[in-house]
Amino acid sequence: MIVPHSVHYKERQQQLHLWYEQQARDLPWRRDLSPYAVWISEVMLQQTQVKTVVPKFNAWLKRFPDLTTLALAKEDDVLKAWEGLGYYRRARFIHASAQLICEKHAAIFPEGFDDILALSGVGRSTAGAISSICFGAKNPVLDGNVKRVLRRWYGEREALDTTLWQWATEEIQAQSKDAGQWNQAMMELGATLCLARSTACARCPVVQHCASAHENQPAIKTKKAAVKNVYWQALLHQDDEKGIWMIQRPEKGIWAKLWCLPMIEMMPTLSEADHVHVLTHRRLHLHLKSMASLPQGQGKWVSDLDDIAIPTGVQRLLKKCSL
Ligand code: ADE
Repeated sequence: MIVPHSVHYKERQQQLHLWYEQQARDLPWRRDLSPYAVWISEVMLQQTQVKTVVPKFNAWLKRFPDLTTLALAKEDDVLKAWEGLGYYRRARFIHASAQLICEKHAAIFPEGFDDILALSGVGRSTAGAISSICFGAKNPVLDGNVKRVLRRWYGEREALDTTLWQWATEEIQAQSKDAGQWNQAMMELGATLCLARSTACARCPVVQHCASAHENQPAIKTKKAAVKNVYWQALLHQDDEKGIWMIQRPEKGIWAKLWCLPMIEMMPTLSEADHVHVLTHRRLHLHLKSMASLPQGQGKWVSDLDDIAIPTGVQRLLKKCSL
């Protein structure tokens, strides 16, 4: 097994940098290195795949081209622009942080690692990405992909986060080149070749420095999150002129603050749902129920569903029911 101290940092670094320069995907946030754009992309990428993020990122920059425009926007518009990315808390964090940057940093994105880390929704890894990519600071990124790459390089499948942070820090400290490029190269390797369920060692630029490739270890298996079945009746109040009755979800819980049909939890049923929507920890079985009565409580009639932020699961339900 290759032990960490015998690793030839320099050679491995050169090879990975070269590979990245030649092979990196042409992604929009790699063209616009302004801290605002990089911050938005990194938060979008925290829990959403690159292929989903690309069009949303481009549209976001058209809608909110700078920090001040974003800070002054209405929360509903921010949530609308986030539609389809999931985990909407991130959109509210970004909005609040834009307002904070305008108030506290005169609308200039902060350069210091601690100031970046202090932004809501930005953890150590995201702060590492922004500070290295935009300001060249030698702070590591440690997302799921980078963790897997490091575990394989060092041949320690069970390595804990403290160890991984230590390795990632050593790697970045040993950089003689652009720290931001190194972090992006690590993420790129994990996203394109060194995948969780399969490895393309034959095409890997650093295969000779990888303990797992030499030992021919099988791929690391990722644990699947436990998913709970939830059954909801979605109440449809429809009016030819006024449209569909929608309510805004509470601040906490699934789909917080998004616009939705009123939902009632029901007993588990074997009858087929109109739409089944899978979230990270929940499988939502949605049964549409047409209501003849007038709607109760707070809400509003919506005639154009494009005007408000509606969770993807509800959009799919409405589409399947031709609404
Ligand atoms: N995931 C998180 N940040 C990324 C980046 N900058 N490029 C590609 N994938 C990423």
